[in-house]
Amino acid sequence: PRVTIVGAGRVGSTLAQRVAEKNLADVVLLDIVEGMPQGLALDLLEARGLELHHRQIIGTNNYADTCDSQIVVITAGVPRKPGMSRDDLLKTNAKIVVDAAKNAIAFSPNAILIIVTNPLDVMTYLAWQATGLPRYRIMGMAGVLDSARFETFIALELGVLPADVQAVVLGSHGDLMVPLSRYATVNGIPITELLDRETIGRLVERTRNGGGEIVELMQTGGAFFAPASAISVMVESILLNQSRLLAVATYLQGEYGLNDIVIGVPCRLGCAGIENIVELHLTDEEAEALQSSAQWVRDNITQAQE
Ligand code: NAI
Repeated sequence: PRVTIVGAGRVGSTLAQRVAEKNLADVVLLDIVEGMPQGLALDLLEARGLELHHRQIIGTNNYADTCDSQIVVITAGVPRKPGMSRDDLLKTNAKIVVDAAKNAIAFSPNAILIIVTNPLDVMTYLAWQATGLPRYRIMGMAGVLDSARFETFIALELGVLPADVQAVVLGSHGDLMVPLSRYATVNGIPITELLDRETIGRLVERTRNGGGEIVELMQTGGAFFAPASAISVMVESILLNQSRLLAVATYLQGEYGLNDIVIGVPCRLGCAGIENIVELHLTDEEAEALQSSAQWVRDNITQAQE
């Protein structure tokens, strides 16, 4: 199989490394900057013998080289700078993502698209709209990352192994995301049994600000290691038909009482893309939070289209 990554920046190039070194697929790295994806691809190829994998890695500026990809991941865009909101990125990234999605689909008409560029849910909606792909073949990555951050903070607080913590974050990627603390467990034990309300509230807040915390620390762009890992989990579930149940940004048609919007909800990911959407029973408070999250996405779609 072949995975194309549009945008060979920090997230894209780290993802290329993950996909090749996990031996999941051949990789095509495409960027608008000349020479840069070619250089990265050569660098990754020179590590191939040391990392003991057999994957081909190509760097290019030309969509023709991406033909017949099973998956296209779009990370192209302008990253968030300190003090810059995700909204500021809106219009610039919208054009980049829509063009990239159309170009990629022209050469890989059967590909599954994973959008990563922020603001994530808005970009996924616009790419879905522009390509006209069936909704099971186009999705956004955010929930896997946000859930991993929530799990990390819970594990740190309790001093337990991160792999023993399971949590899910729904909603839009940003301040209005909906971490479901009610569903978070340490090997089946609800965290509500292990931590007080105030502490859980603090961990939820830190999760909501998870991206911002790293931007403030680094001062030169945002997170990319955990984002690349999160994308690679989705890529793996699709390529290996694992049917993993993950929080994925998807187009809703009535699920959760929401229509004609993209937002993060639990989905099973297999070789055809999104196999099904799981509808959880939410409390009134959680349902309201999801509605606010959806409204934020809606407002930004409108703004992007103005
Ligand atoms: P970066 O700046 O390192 O990489 C972006 C790359 O896109 C650059 O190499 C740039 O040359 C390229 N690019 C720009 N316009 C292009 C075009 N028209 N065609 C092809 N390539 C183009 O940024 P980074 O850190 O890799 O982040 C990429 C995006 O992913 C950002 O929008 C960021 O906010 C988002 N992101 C989303 C996450 C999520 O959870 N959904 C997590 C982390 C980042």
